[in-house]
Amino acid sequence: MQIFKHSSLRQDVKASLQRLAKEEFGNIPIVANTEWSLPNWSLITFSDNEVSAFVNIVERTVHIDKKAYDAAGINNLIVNKKYRGRGLGKLIMLEAQQFILETLSCQIGILLCADNLVSFYKKLNWHLVDGHVSYKQQNTTLRWEARTMLFDPNSIVESFDHLHLNGPPW
Ligand SMILES: CC(C)(COP(=O)(O)OP(=O)(O)OC[C@H]1O[C@@H](n2cnc3c(N)ncnc32)[C@H](O)[C@@H]1OP(=O)(O)O)[C@@H](O)C(=O)NCCC(=O)NCCS
Repeated sequence: MQIFKHSSLRQDVKASLQRLAKEEFGNIPIVANTEWSLPNWSLITFSDNEVSAFVNIVERTVHIDKKAYDAAGINNLIVNKKYRGRGLGKLIMLEAQQFILETLSCQIGILLCADNLVSFYKKLNWHLVDGHVSYKQQNTTLRWEARTMLFDPNSIVESFDHLHLNGPPW
């Protein structure tokens, strides 16, 4: 597994990540119609000279009930279809979790999550939250209607009413 600043990725590697994301999520209308955050980091595994899995990370100061937290947003965890079911998704998420706590010194991880993956992330120590989540889009603030999960191994965040992402979603 290798860790890259997203802005310094080689063009061909960046194109591979974009292609895998498009194949996976390109047909979902909300994905196509939303302005997403640019990632700061990409964790990538390569197998047979191709990208076998990656996850992007967005660093952001968010507000939870008006208090600021250093957060890491998990964006586009994708295992190349050929390599699924072999533990790669779990491996790269465990590395990402260690990276966000130990290298980035983030207090929490935040995941805007599809319903069908809640059980996958629960096994990795993420939990669902039920407070209101909002994000910016052009000049307006919108409510995130799907699931949100937190990685908070040090139990910093108590139950809350409102989480503001302070920018576009990821
Ligand atoms: C979800 C995804 C990352 C899983 O990657 P993977 O390498 O196949 O998963 P792993 O082999 O590491 O599985 C780890 C564990 O999660 C479980 N798991 C895998 N996919 C799962 C799913 N879709 N739902 C629930 N559990 C799942 C496995 O059974 C395994 O359980 P175990 O540890 O008890 O044996 C991969 O299927 C993928 O890229 N999906 C499409 C993109 C996507 O939806 N990404 C998430 C965006 S929020």
